Amino acid sequence: MAVCDLILKGGLVVDGTGAPPRRADVAVEGERILCIGDCSAYQASEVIDVGGEVIAPGFIDVHTHDDWAVLNTPDMSFKITQGVTTVVAGNCGLSAAPFVPREGLPAPFGIVPGGEARFASVEAYSAAVKRAKPAVNVRLLVGHSSLRAGAMQGALERAASGPEIADMAQALDAALRQGAAGLSSGLDYPAALNAPAEEMITLARVVASHRDKTYTTHMRDEGDGVIISVKEALETGRRSGARLVISHHKCAGRANFGKSQKTLPMIDAAMREGDVAMDVYPYVASSTALIARFLPSAEEIKVIWSKPHPAMAGRMLDDIAKEWGVSREDAVAQLQPAGAIYFDMDEGDLQRIMMHPAAMIGSDGLPGTEKPHPRLWGTFPRVLGRYVRELKLLELSQAIHKMTGLSASKFGIQDRGVIAEGKRADLVIFNPDVVADVADFDHPERPSQGISHVIVNGAIAMANGVQTDAKAGRFLS
Ligand code: ZN
Ligand code: CU
Repeated sequence: MAVCDLILKGGLVVDGTGAPPRRADVAVEGERILCIGDCSAYQASEVIDVGGEVIAPGFIDVHTHDDWAVLNTPDMSFKITQGVTTVVAGNCGLSAAPFVPREGLPAPFGIVPGGEARFASVEAYSAAVKRAKPAVNVRLLVGHSSLRAGAMQGALERAASGPEIADMAQALDAALRQGAAGLSSGLDYPAALNAPAEEMITLARVVASHRDKTYTTHMRDEGDGVIISVKEALETGRRSGARLVISHHKCAGRANFGKSQKTLPMIDAAMREGDVAMDVYPYVASSTALIARFLPSAEEIKVIWSKPHPAMAGRMLDDIAKEWGVSREDAVAQLQPAGAIYFDMDEGDLQRIMMHPAAMIGSDGLPGTEKPHPRLWGTFPRVLGRYVRELKLLELSQAIHKMTGLSASKFGIQDRGVIAEGKRADLVIFNPDVVADVADFDHPERPSQGISHVIVNGAIAMANGVQTDAKAGRFLS
C-alpha cells in the first residue's frame, strides 16, 4: 500500500470552483494534495476523521493590511482561527515595500498601528517574511501612496510630475518582477487624493504589461461621489488594460443607501469588456483613520485608538466631544493620530454587493489595536454563519468560491484556491451547522466558532479548534 502524510477521512468537499459539495476523502503528501475521493489505496501516518464536516480550500483574505502583522505577530491567530491560509497585503495604497522611510506622511500612512517597518524592495520584504515564518501565506500589492512617498519630494497633497510618475512606474515594474501581485491605490486619502486619474492610468498600464497582475482601488469617494468614483475606476481599468478590483465596495452615508443598484450594473457592463471584480466585508460599519472629512457620512463613530488619548479607545466620538465640551471636529483634531469605526452603510447594499458574482470576501481588518473592528477576527465565519446558513443569501459552494477559487484567480495565486490533485495543501475543515463569528463591536477579539482544522502548505496549523505552533506560511510570488 502506498503511504502518504495525511488523510482527511469522510468529508464533504467544497472544492472552491463553485461546484456543489461532494462526499470525499482528501490525501496530502508533503505540501500538496495527492488524492481526492476514494483514497483507500493510501495509508497515512496521520488520519483526521472529518466526520461529515466541510473540507474547503483555505480561505484567501483578498483585502488586508497584514504587511506588518505577519512579521510582528507571526502566529496570525486572528486569521488562522477564521480558516484563512493566505492574506493579500498592501491594500488601499499602503504597502510595507517598496518604501522609503519618511516622516510626517498623511493617511493612509499610520492607519495600521505597529506598521512602522519599511522595506526598500519587495525582495527585502519577502526575505523578512521568510525569517518571520508566519502561520499564513502572504501575497503583496504595491501601494500607490507608498510609491508616491518614495518618488515625490515634499508634500504628497498634489499631482505627481512627469518625472515622478516615471520614477514610480520604474519602482512598480521592479516590484512586480520581484513577485508583487499588483498595485493598490487609496485615492480617498490625503496621500493620493490629488493624484489625477491620468497618474493612475499610467501606473495601471505597468500592471497590464505584466502577466496576471492586478490593480485594486480604494476609490476616490465611497459616499456622495460613489457613482463617479466607480466610473473613474472602470475607466482606469479599461484604458490601462489592467485587471481591476474595486476594494471594499460600499455606498457610504444615508443619502447614498441603495446606490449599489446603479454601481453594480455599471460593473456588469464593464465585465463584458474587461476583467473586473470587487471585494466586500460582511458588516455595515467601516474602519480606518479618524479623519474629519469622513464624519458626515457616518451615523455613529467609535474611536478605536488615539496616540495622545489611549484611554478613549472603544468610546463613541460624540461622548468624547461632550465630555470635553468641544465640537466633534475639535475632538477629532485633539485625538490625532487616531483610528475609528464608522457606522455608515445599508444592509441592503451590503447583501446586493455580496451576492454579485464578481464579489470576493476580504476582511479589510486592521490589526494592531485592542479594539479593532470585529471584521479582523470574524469576517469569513460571519459570511458562512449569518449570510449562508441563517439568511440563505448564498449557497455554501458559492460563498466558498468567493473566499477561494475566485480570489486566487483575481490575484494571480496559481496553485491554491481550489481542491485538486497536485495543488498546494491549504485546507480548512469546519462544521457548517455551527460555524459563526463571535467577535462583535464590544468584544472584537473573540475567535470564531465551528472551524475545526486548518492546514497550511500541508502543515496542521489548527487541530480540533486549537491553534498549533505550525508556522508554514510563505511569501507568494
Ligand atoms: Zn481601503
Ligand atoms: Cu483597506
